[in-house]
Amino acid sequence: MVSRYMVLIAVLLIVIAIGIATIVNIVITRLLDVERKPVVNRSKDVVGVGIANMTVIFKDNIVLLPYPRIRRDVLSTEEAIAYRRSIRDYVDMPISIEQLSQLLWATYGISETRWGLKTTPSAGATYPLEIYVVVGEKRVSLLSGDTLQPGVYKYDPYTHSVRLVRAGDFMEELSKAAVNQRWVREAAINIVICAVYERTTRVYGERGYRYVYMEVGHAGQNIYLEATALNLGAVVIGAFYDDWVKSIVNAEENEHPLYIVSIGVPREIYRVSEDEIARYIDSKRRERGLI
Ligand SMILES: Cc1cc2nc3c(=O)[nH]c(=O)nc-3n(C[C@H](O)[C@H](O)[C@H](O)COP(=O)(O)O)c2cc1C
Repeated sequence: MVSRYMVLIAVLLIVIAIGIATIVNIVITRLLDVERKPVVNRSKDVVGVGIANMTVIFKDNIVLLPYPRIRRDVLSTEEAIAYRRSIRDYVDMPISIEQLSQLLWATYGISETRWGLKTTPSAGATYPLEIYVVVGEKRVSLLSGDTLQPGVYKYDPYTHSVRLVRAGDFMEELSKAAVNQRWVREAAINIVICAVYERTTRVYGERGYRYVYMEVGHAGQNIYLEATALNLGAVVIGAFYDDWVKSIVNAEENEHPLYIVSIGVPREIYRVSEDEIARYIDSKRRERGLI
Protein backbone atom coordinates (compact mmCIF):
# COMPACT_ATOMS: atom_id res chain seq x y z
CA MET A 1 0.00 0.00 0.00
CA VAL A 2 2.79 2.40 1.09
CA SER A 3 4.88 1.55 -1.97
CA ARG A 4 1.90 2.25 -4.32
CA TYR A 5 1.55 5.74 -2.78
CA MET A 6 5.26 6.32 -3.15
CA VAL A 7 5.15 5.37 -6.86
CA LEU A 8 2.19 7.73 -7.36
CA ILE A 9 4.02 10.59 -5.62
CA ALA A 10 7.19 9.86 -7.62
CA VAL A 11 5.25 9.99 -10.93
CA LEU A 12 3.57 13.21 -9.80
CA LEU A 13 6.94 14.77 -8.93
CA ILE A 14 8.39 13.76 -12.32
CA VAL A 15 5.42 15.31 -14.15
CA ILE A 16 5.76 18.55 -12.12
CA ALA A 17 9.55 18.61 -12.78
CA ILE A 18 9.03 18.19 -16.55
CA GLY A 19 6.41 20.96 -16.48
CA ILE A 20 8.74 23.36 -14.62
CA ALA A 21 11.66 22.50 -16.96
CA THR A 22 9.49 23.20 -20.01
CA ILE A 23 8.33 26.57 -18.63
CA VAL A 24 11.93 27.55 -17.68
CA ASN A 25 13.11 26.53 -21.16
CA ILE A 26 10.43 28.66 -22.85
CA VAL A 27 11.20 31.68 -20.64
CA ILE A 28 14.99 31.41 -21.23
CA THR A 29 14.51 30.95 -24.99
CA ARG A 30 12.33 34.09 -25.11
CA LEU A 31 14.67 36.12 -22.87
CA LEU A 32 17.81 35.20 -24.79
CA ASP A 33 16.02 35.48 -28.13
CA VAL A 34 17.36 32.08 -29.10
CA GLU A 35 16.79 31.25 -32.77
CA ARG A 36 13.11 31.26 -33.63
CA LYS A 37 12.07 28.88 -36.32
CA PRO A 38 10.53 30.48 -39.42
CA VAL A 39 6.85 29.81 -39.93
CA VAL A 40 7.56 28.17 -43.24
CA ASN A 41 9.93 25.26 -43.10
CA ARG A 42 12.85 25.85 -45.42
CA SER A 43 15.88 23.71 -46.11
CA LYS A 44 19.24 25.18 -45.00
CA ASP A 45 21.07 24.53 -48.24
CA VAL A 46 18.74 25.88 -50.82
CA VAL A 47 19.21 24.77 -54.39
CA GLY A 48 16.86 26.64 -56.68
CA VAL A 49 13.63 27.75 -55.12
CA GLY A 50 11.70 25.50 -52.74
CA ILE A 51 7.95 25.12 -53.14
CA ALA A 52 7.16 26.39 -49.62
CA ASN A 53 8.89 29.65 -50.41
CA MET A 54 7.12 30.30 -53.67
CA THR A 55 3.83 31.24 -52.12
CA VAL A 56 2.60 34.63 -53.26
CA ILE A 57 -0.36 35.86 -51.28
CA PHE A 58 -2.66 38.59 -52.57
CA LYS A 59 -4.61 40.53 -49.99
CA ASP A 60 -6.61 43.47 -51.30
CA ASN A 61 -3.96 45.61 -53.01
CA ILE A 62 -1.08 44.01 -51.16
CA VAL A 63 1.18 41.27 -52.52
CA LEU A 64 3.00 39.28 -49.86
CA LEU A 65 6.20 38.35 -51.67
CA PRO A 66 7.99 35.00 -51.39
CA TYR A 67 10.36 35.07 -48.41
CA PRO A 68 13.89 36.29 -49.20
CA ARG A 69 16.46 33.57 -49.85
CA ILE A 70 20.07 33.54 -48.75
CA ARG A 71 21.31 31.16 -51.42
CA ARG A 72 24.64 29.45 -51.37
CA ASP A 73 24.57 28.17 -54.90
CA VAL A 74 24.88 31.49 -56.68
CA LEU A 75 27.88 33.67 -57.59
CA SER A 76 30.48 34.52 -54.95
CA THR A 77 30.72 38.15 -53.81
CA GLU A 78 33.85 38.58 -55.91
CA GLU A 79 32.18 37.10 -58.99
CA ALA A 80 29.19 39.42 -58.54
CA ILE A 81 31.54 42.42 -58.18
CA ALA A 82 33.54 41.36 -61.26
CA TYR A 83 30.51 40.58 -63.44
CA ARG A 84 28.47 43.66 -62.45
CA ARG A 85 28.00 45.94 -65.43
CA SER A 86 25.45 48.59 -66.39
CA ILE A 87 23.27 46.63 -68.80
CA ARG A 88 20.85 48.49 -71.04
CA ASP A 89 19.78 45.85 -73.58
CA TYR A 90 17.09 43.45 -72.47
CA VAL A 91 15.12 40.68 -74.16
CA ASP A 92 11.34 40.93 -74.14
CA MET A 93 10.82 38.51 -71.26
CA PRO A 94 9.33 38.88 -67.80
CA ILE A 95 11.34 38.42 -64.63
CA SER A 96 9.82 36.13 -61.99
CA ILE A 97 8.14 37.20 -58.75
CA GLU A 98 10.95 35.37 -56.88
CA GLN A 99 13.49 37.56 -58.66
CA LEU A 100 11.46 40.67 -57.83
CA SER A 101 11.36 39.52 -54.21
CA GLN A 102 15.15 39.05 -54.07
CA LEU A 103 15.79 42.42 -55.75
CA LEU A 104 13.58 44.33 -53.31
CA TRP A 105 15.07 42.52 -50.33
CA ALA A 106 18.59 43.37 -51.54
CA THR A 107 17.52 47.01 -52.05
CA TYR A 108 16.11 47.66 -48.59
CA GLY A 109 14.93 44.43 -46.99
CA ILE A 110 15.38 43.25 -43.44
CA SER A 111 18.58 41.36 -42.58
CA GLU A 112 18.55 41.68 -38.78
CA THR A 113 15.53 40.76 -36.73
CA ARG A 114 16.16 42.39 -33.35
CA TRP A 115 15.95 46.03 -34.46
CA GLY A 116 14.77 45.52 -38.02
CA LEU A 117 18.07 46.62 -39.59
CA LYS A 118 18.28 46.51 -43.37
CA THR A 119 20.51 45.19 -46.14
CA THR A 120 21.74 48.73 -46.82
CA PRO A 121 23.80 50.61 -44.21
CA SER A 122 22.10 53.77 -42.94
CA ALA A 123 23.49 56.72 -40.93
CA GLY A 124 22.13 56.23 -37.41
CA ALA A 125 19.74 53.63 -38.83
CA THR A 126 17.46 56.52 -39.81
CA TYR A 127 16.43 54.75 -43.05
CA PRO A 128 15.38 57.71 -45.19
CA LEU A 129 14.62 55.70 -48.35
CA GLU A 130 11.24 54.66 -49.75
CA ILE A 131 11.20 52.09 -52.53
CA TYR A 132 8.73 52.00 -55.41
CA VAL A 133 8.64 49.53 -58.25
CA VAL A 134 7.09 50.26 -61.63
CA VAL A 135 5.88 47.08 -63.32
CA GLY A 136 4.85 46.98 -66.97
CA GLU A 137 2.25 44.78 -68.68
CA LYS A 138 3.29 41.10 -68.50
CA ARG A 139 6.70 41.93 -67.03
CA VAL A 140 6.62 39.91 -63.79
CA SER A 141 5.58 36.25 -64.02
CA LEU A 142 3.77 34.42 -61.24
CA LEU A 143 3.99 30.72 -60.51
CA SER A 144 0.38 30.28 -61.64
CA GLY A 145 1.35 31.27 -65.18
CA ASP A 146 -0.32 34.67 -64.74
CA THR A 147 1.57 37.93 -64.57
CA LEU A 148 1.57 40.64 -61.94
CA GLN A 149 -0.92 43.43 -62.55
CA PRO A 150 0.91 46.36 -64.18
CA GLY A 151 1.26 49.39 -61.97
CA VAL A 152 3.28 51.22 -59.38
CA TYR A 153 3.91 49.31 -56.16
CA LYS A 154 5.43 50.51 -52.88
CA TYR A 155 7.70 48.17 -50.94
CA ASP A 156 7.23 47.53 -47.23
CA PRO A 157 10.50 45.98 -45.99
CA TYR A 158 9.01 44.87 -42.66
CA THR A 159 6.29 42.66 -44.13
CA HIS A 160 8.29 42.05 -47.31
CA SER A 161 5.30 42.99 -49.41
CA VAL A 162 4.37 45.45 -52.12
CA ARG A 163 1.20 47.51 -52.20
CA LEU A 164 -0.35 48.64 -55.46
CA VAL A 165 -0.49 52.42 -55.30
CA ARG A 166 -1.38 53.06 -58.94
CA ALA A 167 -2.74 50.61 -61.51
CA GLY A 168 -1.68 50.82 -65.16
CA ASP A 169 1.41 50.52 -67.35
CA PHE A 170 3.64 53.55 -66.74
CA MET A 171 6.85 52.23 -68.31
CA GLU A 172 6.54 54.44 -71.40
CA GLU A 173 5.82 57.56 -69.36
CA LEU A 174 8.65 56.79 -66.94
CA SER A 175 11.02 56.48 -69.90
CA LYS A 176 9.89 59.91 -71.14
CA ALA A 177 10.41 61.34 -67.67
CA ALA A 178 13.92 59.85 -67.78
CA VAL A 179 14.75 61.96 -70.86
CA ASN A 180 13.53 59.18 -73.15
CA GLN A 181 16.10 56.59 -72.14
CA ARG A 182 15.14 53.46 -74.10
CA TRP A 183 16.18 50.95 -71.44
CA VAL A 184 13.67 52.41 -68.98
CA ARG A 185 10.70 51.40 -71.18
CA GLU A 186 12.28 48.11 -72.33
CA ALA A 187 13.15 46.88 -68.83
CA ALA A 188 10.99 44.34 -67.02
CA ILE A 189 10.74 46.62 -63.99
CA ASN A 190 12.06 49.94 -62.74
CA ILE A 191 12.84 50.41 -59.08
CA VAL A 192 12.42 54.05 -58.07
CA ILE A 193 14.27 55.01 -54.91
CA CYS A 194 12.95 58.09 -53.12
CA ALA A 195 14.36 59.82 -50.04
CA VAL A 196 12.66 61.47 -47.08
CA TYR A 197 15.56 63.78 -46.14
CA GLU A 198 14.10 64.89 -42.78
CA ARG A 199 14.49 61.42 -41.29
CA THR A 200 18.26 61.88 -41.47
CA THR A 201 18.66 65.68 -41.30
CA ARG A 202 16.54 65.68 -38.11
CA VAL A 203 19.45 63.85 -36.45
CA TYR A 204 22.48 65.14 -38.40
CA GLY A 205 21.43 68.58 -39.64
CA GLU A 206 22.81 69.70 -43.03
CA ARG A 207 25.29 66.81 -43.02
CA GLY A 208 22.33 64.45 -43.20
CA TYR A 209 21.91 65.26 -46.92
CA ARG A 210 25.26 63.76 -47.82
CA TYR A 211 24.42 60.70 -45.71
CA VAL A 212 21.21 60.21 -47.69
CA TYR A 213 23.11 60.40 -51.01
CA MET A 214 25.63 57.87 -49.73
CA GLU A 215 22.83 55.55 -48.66
CA VAL A 216 21.07 55.61 -52.01
CA GLY A 217 24.42 54.62 -53.56
CA HIS A 218 24.61 51.62 -51.24
CA ALA A 219 21.08 50.58 -52.20
CA GLY A 220 21.90 51.01 -55.89
CA GLN A 221 25.00 48.84 -55.61
CA ASN A 222 23.02 46.19 -53.73
CA ILE A 223 20.57 46.06 -56.65
CA TYR A 224 23.41 45.76 -59.16
CA LEU A 225 25.02 42.88 -57.25
CA GLU A 226 21.73 41.04 -56.67
CA ALA A 227 20.77 41.46 -60.34
CA THR A 228 24.16 40.05 -61.33
CA ALA A 229 23.67 37.09 -58.98
CA LEU A 230 20.26 36.49 -60.58
CA ASN A 231 21.73 36.71 -64.12
CA LEU A 232 19.67 39.83 -64.72
CA GLY A 233 20.85 43.14 -66.15
CA ALA A 234 20.52 46.48 -64.37
CA VAL A 235 21.43 50.11 -64.85
CA VAL A 236 21.05 52.99 -62.42
CA ILE A 237 19.53 56.17 -63.81
CA GLY A 238 20.22 59.63 -62.42
CA ALA A 239 18.97 61.65 -65.40
CA PHE A 240 15.25 62.35 -65.05
CA TYR A 241 12.73 65.07 -64.29
CA ASP A 242 12.23 64.85 -60.52
CA ASP A 243 8.68 66.17 -60.34
CA TRP A 244 7.48 64.04 -63.25
CA VAL A 245 8.88 60.84 -61.74
CA LYS A 246 7.43 61.82 -58.39
CA SER A 247 3.95 62.17 -59.87
CA ILE A 248 4.25 58.90 -61.83
CA VAL A 249 4.94 56.88 -58.67
CA ASN A 250 2.41 58.86 -56.64
CA ALA A 251 5.11 59.69 -54.08
CA GLU A 252 4.25 61.53 -50.88
CA GLU A 253 5.05 65.26 -50.76
CA ASN A 254 8.26 64.69 -48.74
CA GLU A 255 9.50 61.73 -50.84
CA HIS A 256 12.06 62.83 -53.43
CA PRO A 257 13.17 60.46 -56.22
CA LEU A 258 16.95 60.00 -56.41
CA TYR A 259 17.47 56.89 -58.52
CA ILE A 260 15.58 54.89 -61.10
CA VAL A 261 17.04 51.42 -61.56
CA SER A 262 16.03 49.60 -64.75
CA ILE A 263 16.20 45.81 -64.55
CA GLY A 264 15.51 43.15 -67.15
CA VAL A 265 16.60 39.86 -68.68
CA PRO A 266 19.86 40.82 -70.41
CA ARG A 267 20.58 40.25 -74.09
CA GLU A 268 24.13 39.36 -73.08
CA ILE A 269 25.61 38.37 -69.76
CA TYR A 270 28.89 40.08 -68.93
CA ARG A 271 31.84 37.98 -67.79
CA VAL A 272 35.51 38.77 -67.23
CA SER A 273 38.40 36.51 -66.20
CA GLU A 274 41.20 36.98 -63.66
CA ASP A 275 43.71 36.62 -66.54
CA GLU A 276 42.05 39.40 -68.51
CA ILE A 277 42.22 41.75 -65.53
CA ALA A 278 45.83 40.74 -64.73
CA ARG A 279 46.88 41.36 -68.38
CA TYR A 280 45.24 44.80 -68.25
CA ILE A 281 47.02 45.68 -64.98
CA ASP A 282 50.35 44.47 -66.45
CA SER A 283 49.93 46.59 -69.55
CA LYS A 284 49.33 49.69 -67.36
CA ARG A 285 52.33 48.80 -65.17
CA ARG A 286 54.46 48.47 -68.31
CA GLU A 287 53.19 51.83 -69.61
CA ARG A 288 54.28 53.46 -66.36
CA GLY A 289 57.66 51.66 -66.35
CA LEU A 290 56.81 49.75 -63.18
CA ILE A 291 57.65 46.33 -64.65
C1 LIG B 1 24.92 58.68 -60.13
C2 LIG B 1 24.86 57.91 -61.43
C3 LIG B 1 23.95 58.31 -62.40
C4 LIG B 1 23.84 57.57 -63.59
N1 LIG B 1 22.89 57.93 -64.50
C5 LIG B 1 22.74 57.19 -65.63
C6 LIG B 1 21.71 57.51 -66.55
O1 LIG B 1 20.93 58.44 -66.39
N2 LIG B 1 21.58 56.72 -67.65
C7 LIG B 1 22.40 55.65 -67.89
O2 LIG B 1 22.21 54.97 -68.90
N3 LIG B 1 23.39 55.32 -67.03
C8 LIG B 1 23.57 56.06 -65.90
N4 LIG B 1 24.54 55.70 -64.98
C9 LIG B 1 25.40 54.51 -65.24
C10 LIG B 1 26.78 54.89 -65.72
O3 LIG B 1 26.70 55.36 -67.06
C11 LIG B 1 27.70 53.67 -65.66
O4 LIG B 1 27.82 53.28 -64.31
C12 LIG B 1 29.08 53.95 -66.23
O5 LIG B 1 29.01 54.10 -67.64
C13 LIG B 1 30.10 52.84 -65.93
O6 LIG B 1 29.66 51.58 -66.44
P1 LIG B 1 29.44 50.32 -65.47
O7 LIG B 1 28.34 50.68 -64.53
O8 LIG B 1 29.11 49.20 -66.38
O9 LIG B 1 30.71 50.10 -64.73
C14 LIG B 1 24.69 56.43 -63.81
C15 LIG B 1 25.60 56.07 -62.83
C16 LIG B 1 25.68 56.77 -61.65
C17 LIG B 1 26.65 56.31 -60.57
